[in-house]
Amino acid sequence: MTTRQNGIAVIVCAFLISVFFGLYITGNSGTAFSKPPLAMWDVRDGLHNDNESTSWRERFPHLPTCSKTDAPEVKLLIVTYMRSGSTFTGDLFDQHPDVFYVYEPLHAVEKSIVMTRQTARFWDKPSVKVDTANKTAIEKLEDGIVGGYLNCNFQNIDITTLEDPFMKFGQKTEQFGRCRGQNKGVIGTFRCLPGLQRSCCRAKVVASKTIRYTMTRALTLMANDAKVKVIHLVRDPRATMLSREKYGKVDRRSVEKHCVQFCQAVRTDLQIGREAMTRFPDRILRVRYEDFASHPTRFAEMLLRFAGLEMTAKQREHLRQITSGPNHQCATCIRLLNTNSSYNAFSWRRGINLDDVKMIDKQCEGVYPLAGYLPLPLASSVRNLSLPSLMEPAQVPGFLS
Ligand SMILES: *[C@@H]1O[C@H](CO)[C@@H](O)[C@H](O)[C@H]1NC(C)=O
Ligand SMILES: *[C@@H]1O[C@H](CO)[C@@H](O)[C@H](O)[C@H]1NC(C)=O
Ligand SMILES: *[C@@H]1O[C@H](CO)[C@@H](O)[C@H](O)[C@H]1NC(C)=O
Ligand SMILES: *[C@@H]1O[C@H](CO)[C@@H](O)[C@H](O)[C@H]1NC(C)=O
Repeated sequence: MTTRQNGIAVIVCAFLISVFFGLYITGNSGTAFSKPPLAMWDVRDGLHNDNESTSWRERFPHLPTCSKTDAPEVKLLIVTYMRSGSTFTGDLFDQHPDVFYVYEPLHAVEKSIVMTRQTARFWDKPSVKVDTANKTAIEKLEDGIVGGYLNCNFQNIDITTLEDPFMKFGQKTEQFGRCRGQNKGVIGTFRCLPGLQRSCCRAKVVASKTIRYTMTRALTLMANDAKVKVIHLVRDPRATMLSREKYGKVDRRSVEKHCVQFCQAVRTDLQIGREAMTRFPDRILRVRYEDFASHPTRFAEMLLRFAGLEMTAKQREHLRQITSGPNHQCATCIRLLNTNSSYNAFSWRRGINLDDVKMIDKQCEGVYPLAGYLPLPLASSVRNLSLPSLMEPAQVPGFLS
């Protein structure tokens, strides 16, 4: 090729790239790139350091934080574990009109950023290439996200997290997803952010449930911000383990190892939580899923009151529907129990393998006295539901009753 041909080729290439990328970032291509190729992310990274980004930032100026008069009064974090009734408990808050609810804010960090070693990218601060072997670095990113949500400060939240499909599991975050559906690309995401921020600032309570946080870390949030309140939700480890197996979350061969780690984590959280209750009176609430499921309305009222909220009539009806089922007409019951919840809370006793009960009773013996669960040493006692598998809530210190 001659020099002239080379020159033309370069110009044509540059033109095609700029047209393609230009369409992507302005969101006019009509194609949703949920996972753009790596090269595009790299170009996208230029958003905050080249000259063009200056003009983009002028078009989408820095989001102001909530005003003093228009900011949530309570920042509620529900700390819990996989298959422990957390969707049900979180839904209680999501259904309240005064709540801005975020479902699993750290899902994208675990599933996208850490697992596939992506770089965390932000609108107006430098990207972070997280060293996935460095726990401190991951926790720093996570704390930024949790804090970003609780404070309605979305510029602190990385783009992958903002674009996480789990956003559809909250009524107000789902509206953001809808807006993004009409405003494609990363610019679309930022075009939709002010709306998300307004809806967060206007809420009386920001609430979020997470299975990816510890009580120790939640206490740090509480120490730094008097508006932060924490609900620690626990469930009978035997029910949780059976459910995890049933949903393929744990391999049959590694059940015992999994159980040891799980119960160690719950025990630490329970100990930390109990000590912290004197340090932060009225800001920590501990509840067992079984108690909530057995007395849905009474516990729902107490949980809401903890966050400064009253149950609405609509919520009362929704709660009745999802806990007294099965109800096939109930459109809002998707992902929720839609069953007789007091029956459902103990149905594990009918299906669980008796050797598993023995193993869990042994490996979780440190958890039981702290949360009022009772070992079931005999096969006949596991299946006989007249024999209690847990103490009455009023007899368990520090638990909601
Ligand atoms: C960026 O803008 C500044 C000021 O407008 C200018 O001096 C500089 O040459 C520009 N840089 C590039 C790479 O275009
Ligand atoms: C881990 O990350 C933290 C926070 O980003 C950093 O301060 C620290 O130096 C890192 N440690 C190592 C061993 O890279
Ligand atoms: C739900 O189950 C409980 C416990 O098995 C039972 O006492 C109750 O009558 C059931 N409620 C309904 C509405 O079926
Ligand atoms: C279940 O336990 C109750 C209370 O101890 C007992 O009266 C009853 O006979 C037991 N039922 C069976 C089937 O063993």
